[in-house]
Amino acid sequence: MSNDPIYSATKKLRSRDWFEPLTAWGMCHRGWLRAEGYAEENFEGKPVIGICNSWSELTNCNSNLRTIAEAVKRGVWQAVGFPLEFPTISLGEPYMKPTTMLFRNLMAMDVEESIDSNPLDAVVLLAGCDKTVPAQILGALSANVPALMITSGPMLGSNMRGKELGSGHDLFDYINDYKAGKMTRQQISDIEGCIARSTGHCMVMGTASTMACLVEALGFTLPFGASIPGPDARRLQLAERAGRRAVEMAKQDIRPRQIITPKAIENAIRALHAIGGSTNAIIHLVAFARRLGFDLPLEHFDRLGKDTPFLVSMMPNGPKFVMEDFHGAGGMPAVLKELAPMLHGDALTVTGETISQWTAKAQPSWNREVIYPANRPIEPHGAVVTLRGSLAPGGAAIKRSAASKHLLKHRGPAFVFENYHAMLDQLTDLNLPITKDHVIVLRNAGLVGAPGMPEWGVFAVPLKLHQQGVHDLVRISDARISGTSHGTIAVHVAPEAAVGGPIGLVKTGDLIELDVENRRLDLLVDPAELERRKKDFRPPPSRERGYKKLFVERVLQANEGADFDFLVPPKLEPFPQSLG
Ligand code: FES
Repeated sequence: MSNDPIYSATKKLRSRDWFEPLTAWGMCHRGWLRAEGYAEENFEGKPVIGICNSWSELTNCNSNLRTIAEAVKRGVWQAVGFPLEFPTISLGEPYMKPTTMLFRNLMAMDVEESIDSNPLDAVVLLAGCDKTVPAQILGALSANVPALMITSGPMLGSNMRGKELGSGHDLFDYINDYKAGKMTRQQISDIEGCIARSTGHCMVMGTASTMACLVEALGFTLPFGASIPGPDARRLQLAERAGRRAVEMAKQDIRPRQIITPKAIENAIRALHAIGGSTNAIIHLVAFARRLGFDLPLEHFDRLGKDTPFLVSMMPNGPKFVMEDFHGAGGMPAVLKELAPMLHGDALTVTGETISQWTAKAQPSWNREVIYPANRPIEPHGAVVTLRGSLAPGGAAIKRSAASKHLLKHRGPAFVFENYHAMLDQLTDLNLPITKDHVIVLRNAGLVGAPGMPEWGVFAVPLKLHQQGVHDLVRISDARISGTSHGTIAVHVAPEAAVGGPIGLVKTGDLIELDVENRRLDLLVDPAELERRKKDFRPPPSRERGYKKLFVERVLQANEGADFDFLVPPKLEPFPQSLG
């Protein structure tokens, strides 16, 4: 056992319960580690640092995490710790059907139990693709063993024939153009060849970039953790530093619940508004708060959004710029510096410093076309808006910054699609009786209905309208949208249709009103008539088995974070809001 005073001055490491006792089990724990080829002096008395790796060849955006794990290990060895890498289930956005959201809670449970049940003193979490980040955070919050996160980093930007391509951005428009004969098969193939040009996660301000930025705003990674591109050597250097830092965090016993607090969550909500981030982040931040035992109402996002300036111009909110440009402009340190007066500066970060110590050291933006100053913002208020009304009594969300300004207040007749697949069949029908004034309602696409709440809320403008030059119309659903989506799209309508929400009662021709300014989403139908329709509601029969059966039976609604009821404390406290 080491006599190094640095260890004796600190709290007992939890791994010592496994490796210290002179018992049969102690022999087993030491012996089986030696079976991997590690001599005893490798781990004797040293902090054991888990590297929780969501690498998978089925998760394209995390495909560089093996290389990153090696860099983390170098850092751990340098700081005289002992690294042990382990896998969990991984969630790859492009391939998993119907949606990775169906499995976020499964991965969170895997992460929690892998950390909690093993001899780990601290963990470096490696994630990247959309749901892998919140899943690891949820797991780490519940395990509450010292941890920090390194993400895979954004892909490199891409340019084809003078046009900047964003990963995932404009795909529906390209395919509509192809169907309309405006693009060739070869042009589609050329775009496929470079739209996701390197390792790393999607490089527009989609869900992965948003969550990476929020991890930095939460203080749960190292500065610039969100924006250094995936293939950039500086990401490996960052990972090495994270390995060293994890060893220190193990000794200092700095735990996730000391970092991700209500104050840090408010900082992250401010950051979400400032970067024009994905609506998906609302669900995940609510889930983080609820794991901590706090009920975070959707209205709080709005309260904080009212005076949080929208600062970052990137696709899909702007016509150009991707994460590489954002990094060059100063990344999250520059954004947090602009927001500093409205942040909780005393929020602790994984470096052991406070957020205000970070922002004091940060440089202002190098490129004001990408990161605007707070006194001359793109918009004086936040980019993401939550809605309520008779169509969404539990709430809904819309990304104002990606919507068409002329549709932010709109009243029009509903055009209802009963489910996603039926809708897809009809969107290309040139005889569809739909006009640009219609409000498309897609239902049975929520957490229970789909199940898993896929990103079905964004879909192509009906081909008939596309051919008339219509590029946007109001679309409403109980689904989610990808953060790369753009258009006037209200999502997360709660309660969803499958559990009896009003969205399930809408009939084609009913009037719907969207009023973003007043945060309203209303179904303009006589309440007595809605009561009559409600009597006919029958929940759809569940055809699920296994994990999916557990999911539909125990998942909470979107406004409750879409977590499992049994993973949240039974009694929640009101969220300690700093604003009225
Ligand atoms: Fe993985 Fe976009 S598909 S981050």
